[in-house]
Amino acid sequence: MCGIIGFAGKTDAKSVLLDGLERLEYRGYDSAGIAVVSSKGELQVEKSKGRLAVLRELVAADKSVSGNVGIGHTRWATHGEPNDVNAHPHVGEAGKIAVVHNGIIENYLEIKNSLIRKGVTFQSDTDTEVIVQLLEYYYKKYDDIMDAVYKVLSRIKGAYAMGILCSDYPEQMIAARKDAPLLIGYGDESNYIASDVTALLAYTRMVTYMEDDEVAVITAKSVQIYDSDRNILNMEQHTVDWDIAAAEKGGYTHFMLKEIMEQPEAVKKTISPRLENGQIVMEELSKVPDLMQNITRIYIVACGSAYHVGMIGKYVIEKLLHIPVEACLASEFRYSEPVLGEKSLVIVISQSGETLDSMAALREAKRKGSKVLSIVNVMGSSIARESDIVLYTWAGPEIAVATTKAYSTQMVLLIMLGVYFAKQQGLIEEQEYQKVIDSLLELPEQMTEVLKNLDTYQKIASRYFNHNSIFFIGRNLDYALGLEGSLKLKEISYIHSESYAAGELKHGTISLIEPGTLVVALATYAPLVEKSLSNIVEVQSRGAEVIALVTQETAATIKERVPEIFAVPQTHPILQPMLGMIPLQLFAYYVALNRGCDIDKPRNLAKSVTVE
Ligand code: M6R
Repeated sequence: MCGIIGFAGKTDAKSVLLDGLERLEYRGYDSAGIAVVSSKGELQVEKSKGRLAVLRELVAADKSVSGNVGIGHTRWATHGEPNDVNAHPHVGEAGKIAVVHNGIIENYLEIKNSLIRKGVTFQSDTDTEVIVQLLEYYYKKYDDIMDAVYKVLSRIKGAYAMGILCSDYPEQMIAARKDAPLLIGYGDESNYIASDVTALLAYTRMVTYMEDDEVAVITAKSVQIYDSDRNILNMEQHTVDWDIAAAEKGGYTHFMLKEIMEQPEAVKKTISPRLENGQIVMEELSKVPDLMQNITRIYIVACGSAYHVGMIGKYVIEKLLHIPVEACLASEFRYSEPVLGEKSLVIVISQSGETLDSMAALREAKRKGSKVLSIVNVMGSSIARESDIVLYTWAGPEIAVATTKAYSTQMVLLIMLGVYFAKQQGLIEEQEYQKVIDSLLELPEQMTEVLKNLDTYQKIASRYFNHNSIFFIGRNLDYALGLEGSLKLKEISYIHSESYAAGELKHGTISLIEPGTLVVALATYAPLVEKSLSNIVEVQSRGAEVIALVTQETAATIKERVPEIFAVPQTHPILQPMLGMIPLQLFAYYVALNRGCDIDKPRNLAKSVTVE
């Protein structure tokens, strides 16, 4: 959560900082700020509560903010409410040092109290301010900024990615990282730091992903990275192949809509390199060829929508491999003492590759001797780097907070992985295997077909956007898909919504169904369609209004009974949610649009959740 950008160059820093912050706003958007050092060594700061537009106005009005080196931050509040004072950058009492920080300093109170006893006055309620006050304290003591930085890093506990400016060193910024993403970008007579690569795409594709406990000193002409003992390190540079256009709206009203529309292409990019001569190939797995040899249990661990992909994976992979597969919420998994060991495979799914709970689950799994395979979208991210095997989804940058194309690419990849394992172990018949391959090949085109019915989704959404509680019901894969449909609706439209296994309704929840209650009933999973249709009748008998998500085959049968229908083409049953998800995403989108919600930046949320 929160975004960091830093610039050291020969030109004015503020336009790069504001532009970078705009691209990072999806990381947090309750306040924003920048600090620059002028060539004369004056530190200037502008920051404010609210969206970036407010900061832009402030900076435009204050002509004194000028300098070639600077840092910027967009915040998702953890410690201290979103206001002007708690916004970053924070500046020490002596006004010499400024800091932007992502993460949480766990022992901040202890440090704060000891500094207060020494006479330091704090301005904000943040944990971050202790970093800058402590830096100034040690800087005064040692008279060397790097000595001060290393001393501070040895005292703070927790997670951090930070950018530091010191007015006595007007040509440089310092970066430090532990358990929060931070990368360095290399430009022409300019160098950068950023929490996400999207902030840098307009300036450079050459980056170094900083590792934990590293510190970097960055000027316009040089970058020097040090380890925790202050030894100079060799920098491994990577080329990022994401296109800047992929991180821009390109004529769409919202990133979310653009990303929904990009799904056929993203899915194709994820599938194509892994299909060769009618076979699924997973070259990434060649690193550990006997991976599945003794595996008796699989855990799929993730958060939010990625967890919902895990639920799909649970149903599909358990059925294919005949071993227990559990989908686990990462935040629960890490504290539930899971039975792990060499015979368990842990699959971690994460778009950002930086979600703290998923990262912690990964480390727990490795600590207990399990192999970890991850499905990740962001190259070089922490989860990707710490996994034994990484399968990348090729969704490109996803900017909208509500995930869509990352979700669908994760899902198709996980299903392919299950089928690959089944084939490898001789657990799937050739004919069935070929049906899956054919369906995979056909999938992007079918997705495009589903995306053509925008009018239907829009029309239905405009009829129901005023409901204040909506239920999603389904069985098996439809249940797993309903979880995601419900989350999409909740997060962007703020309508209360629940997703239930349809067969479970009668065990309690059906008491909530009354005349006019809206139920989105999913009945696309071929083996259980009949049973799902009975559940539709059940809720209708209690007065519910129903929108049915069905395949085109079923649509004709139930048209008389259910007037509102999202119909999708049929595919192989294990791939059916890949088509069913599109109407649900668009339903949520248009409901939110009708309600005037801020679709790309829903309240209280941030794209990447790097705190516990
Ligand atoms: O980056 P990750 O895939 O690890 O993120 C996991 C969740 O935070 C994420 O899927 C979240 O639920 C989305 N906002 C859902 O749209």
